[in-house]
Amino acid sequence: MPLPERFLDELLARTDIVDLVSESVRLTKKGSSYWGCCPFHSEKTPSFHVVPDRQMYKCFGCGKGGGAINYVMELENLPFKDAVAVLAQRVGMQVPEFGSSPGARERREKILEMNKQAARVFHRWLNGPEGAQGLQYLQSRGLSKRTLTNFGLGFAPNRWDGLITELSSQGYDKRDLLDAGLAVSSKDGRIYDRFRNRVMFPIIDVRGGVIGFGGRVMDDSTPKYLNSPDTPVYNKSRNVFALNIAKTSKAGRVILTEGYMDTISLHQAGFDSAVASLGTALTEEHGQLLSRYFKEAVIAYDGDGAGVKAAQRAIPILEKAGLKVKVLRVQGAKDPDELIKSYGREAFARLLDQSENQVDYRLAQIQKKYDLSDDGQRIAFLQEAAQLVAGLRSAVEREIYGGHAAQTAGVTPDTMKLEVDRALKGRLRKEKKQQERRDLAPASQLQPRARGLRYENIRSARAEEGLLRLLMLDPGLLGRMGELTGGEFSSPLLGRAFDRLAARAREGLSTQLAALAGEFTGEEMDHLAQVAAQPESVANSGQAIRDYISLIRGEGLLRGGGEQGDDLLLAAQKKYQRKKAYMEEKK
Ligand code: CTP
Ligand code: MN
Repeated sequence: MPLPERFLDELLARTDIVDLVSESVRLTKKGSSYWGCCPFHSEKTPSFHVVPDRQMYKCFGCGKGGGAINYVMELENLPFKDAVAVLAQRVGMQVPEFGSSPGARERREKILEMNKQAARVFHRWLNGPEGAQGLQYLQSRGLSKRTLTNFGLGFAPNRWDGLITELSSQGYDKRDLLDAGLAVSSKDGRIYDRFRNRVMFPIIDVRGGVIGFGGRVMDDSTPKYLNSPDTPVYNKSRNVFALNIAKTSKAGRVILTEGYMDTISLHQAGFDSAVASLGTALTEEHGQLLSRYFKEAVIAYDGDGAGVKAAQRAIPILEKAGLKVKVLRVQGAKDPDELIKSYGREAFARLLDQSENQVDYRLAQIQKKYDLSDDGQRIAFLQEAAQLVAGLRSAVEREIYGGHAAQTAGVTPDTMKLEVDRALKGRLRKEKKQQERRDLAPASQLQPRARGLRYENIRSARAEEGLLRLLMLDPGLLGRMGELTGGEFSSPLLGRAFDRLAARAREGLSTQLAALAGEFTGEEMDHLAQVAAQPESVANSGQAIRDYISLIRGEGLLRGGGEQGDDLLLAAQKKYQRKKAYMEEKK
């Protein structure tokens, strides 16, 4: 059963795209619209455009676009209905029943609620008679009462059904407990507590939901940690520990550690932007998540070989997510927790300040490939290093790291500079050529990015786009479009969108772009957003509609089909590219 259209309309009316996007992107107002760094791809100069008038967003960099619902779908990686539920909750609306089968959303909510109760129980036990040993353990690790409360740490007693009994009395059944990963079933079909005789670390997501747990033994037995399995609310490759606290840090750079204890120790020592990946290698999803809240990441993994390897793997992932990356080398201690304990917070602060830029790391990696005592290989090293250095954005950085490479290879900084300049020229030439190719092909700019959506007839498609825009701006204009149907359009996508919007207009519903989210794919929405973002004036719309329609019907060109129309989007796009080129040059 589809969602009632009126509900969607009300939801969209109550949701402001600027407010919504601002929750995850820093936006700056320019004229009547807003700009920020795109949350969907890595970038350093803003190309993400939010237009309040049309309640839509569009990225000139990666092409993503749409309305409020798409935004949540893309950002949180949610299906349509779950995104609607998120938005509804945000504005305090009740989502009508989706149909007969109990929705995944209700299931998620139930598990979250149950996890929250479990965390309460664990925390209570830690401070009760049964938890004495756990409390003593955590205190012996140097954690203060306040830290225990801040992180909601807890204790699971050495019983088979401690938590099961508690939660059953609150009305949760066997299936709930198994689904949440709080209980495990034995061969004979009975269930028992997953976490026993362990200190408990609740894992809380950025919205404050308790999504899972880690439990640590209090001695040297194994496994040292036991974690929640993947459940409908928990996925270890998508969440990091303590981001719920770190996201409000004013530090500006996230400190990435390997362990729960490292992160908690850092927080206690005042480094409130520490997080930990949850016993798994860093994923692209982790990177994206972190880049929503931070511009810079400092990797503070364990000092052993495994930690160094893990750090090297993490660098490109974080960079791809648009973060500036530094590596902190833990020295004289096993991990950040031990470091702070042995040498104090100042020692960590110092290492943080000195934390190596990843460029040195990458230079070292390049160096490893060559035998620098061989002249030929030394030249090859210099050339590869020059490519890396030429890719740095500021002249100062190029000078510094060029110097490092020169020193490594035993040549003068000036020699290295010549090499870097040559690499730089090559890069600029290549970029300029690409830019020219783009500028010379305005028709191809109009084409949808996704191949499957290509326009067959560009002139007709322009007119079709115009009609769609007019209909989005003012549903009342439908009356002037006569008998026209989407079936007459040359582009099937535009035709379908037209029919949908026309149907909504007839029902007296909103024709905003956002209302189409449920019926079009992400790619299709990206393109429709591109269409919607272009200028269209409702003034003189009567004449425009007649012209557009005759163009679509092949009745000849009366007005030039908007050919000479001031194409605001293209203009904005050009301006953005010019600005980018200018900024590059300035550096
Ligand atoms: N981990 C895990 N399962 C294990 C061991 C480790 O899930 N059996 C994960 C945990 O998230 C842990 C992280 O990997 O926090 C790092 O492991 P480790 O360095 O061994 O643990 P620490 O957090 O440093 O804990 P401690 O200081 O108590 O040894
Ligand atoms: Mn550790």
